[in-house]
Amino acid sequence: MQIPAFVDKNPIVRRLPTPVRTRVEAYVDHLNAVLAVENLRVMTRLAPSAARGLFLRQGRSGRARMQARHRAWFDFDYPHDNPEMRALYEKAKRLQWNGATDLDWQTSVDPYDPATPLVDRGFVDWSVFERAGFRPDARARKTFVLKLTAWMLSQFLHGEQGALLAAAQVTEATEQFDGKFYGATQVMDEARHVEVFHRYLTEKLELRYEINDNLFTIIDGLMTDGRWDMKFLGMQILVEGLALGAFATLRRTTHEPLLRELLRRVIHDEARHVRYGILALAPHYRRLSERERREREDWAFEVVVLMRNRFLAHELYEEDFAHLMSRREWNRLVEQMPGLETFRRTMFRRLVPNLRAIGLLTPRVARHYERVGLGRYIHLPSTDRLSDAQMMAG
Ligand SMILES: [Fe+2]
Ligand SMILES: [Fe+2]
Repeated sequence: MQIPAFVDKNPIVRRLPTPVRTRVEAYVDHLNAVLAVENLRVMTRLAPSAARGLFLRQGRSGRARMQARHRAWFDFDYPHDNPEMRALYEKAKRLQWNGATDLDWQTSVDPYDPATPLVDRGFVDWSVFERAGFRPDARARKTFVLKLTAWMLSQFLHGEQGALLAAAQVTEATEQFDGKFYGATQVMDEARHVEVFHRYLTEKLELRYEINDNLFTIIDGLMTDGRWDMKFLGMQILVEGLALGAFATLRRTTHEPLLRELLRRVIHDEARHVRYGILALAPHYRRLSERERREREDWAFEVVVLMRNRFLAHELYEEDFAHLMSRREWNRLVEQMPGLETFRRTMFRRLVPNLRAIGLLTPRVARHYERVGLGRYIHLPSTDRLSDAQMMAG
């Protein structure tokens, strides 16, 4: 079900002042995203978060309050109940690093220096922009790349804050005691990630964007769901999978040494987080009833589709391009950006096999992944089977 693309052609909408037209187009675009959710149960579950994120735009108000509903578990027997998680906890303690002192913050970052471009030349296809009537000179191209990089890093930053809070919730909500030990190290990891991304944006790029409405919606959905496994699934598998894809893509393309090292260290930490998600969820999902497992399968599929279609730098569009083109035209343009296409491929290479590893890619739902063009990722190795070098290669 889709609303017809009347907005592009409607003469009344076209004549609206740019800020009003931008708002109308955003609502229609969001409504289309919500209506594209095919599973009614999933749509009902996502609706409150979508209302807060997409329509009330609570992510843009500086602060947001999310009502947690999970149950916290104490265990006064202090059991040693999962040796693999305990081993991961030991590993995480050994590999802690200090974001303030282990990165060289003295590095001078100049986004306009041709020797250290923020992203490779091929990341943006300028001919597509030129066809849309935007013909930037060399400096304006660098400014655009700076803004695009700051937009991506800002989404990483906000995602990391979501991960920090979700990891704290998961530490309370998991019944496994070794899981709580490991979870505590992840809370520390995520705080460090917030610290380094925030510092990089503030001190080096001097630019930061608001949270993307769709990312807010996904984070809101998992933070307010009372079931511990939905938090794991949403954060450790889906959002972390997205993050691993994004970090690896940006690390491969950037020539800026501080950012490369920052991302290398963060990717190492994130790989542990995804591993934790697989360790916790695979046995749990084997025990669920058919009906409960189906609900998770459908929810994960819809969130994956949302992630594929919705990270289109609209914050950048609203700032600089709304007077030049419609939102639909922008969407088409960004979808053709080679760097973001690589990012989507890397993200699904990470994410889809992990869904298989936890048992959420049964033949029933695999058909849907095939239908939307993601079938080729199903049988690739999951993150827990990859070496560090493979993880960095993306
Ligand atoms: Fe993180
Ligand atoms: Fe993480």
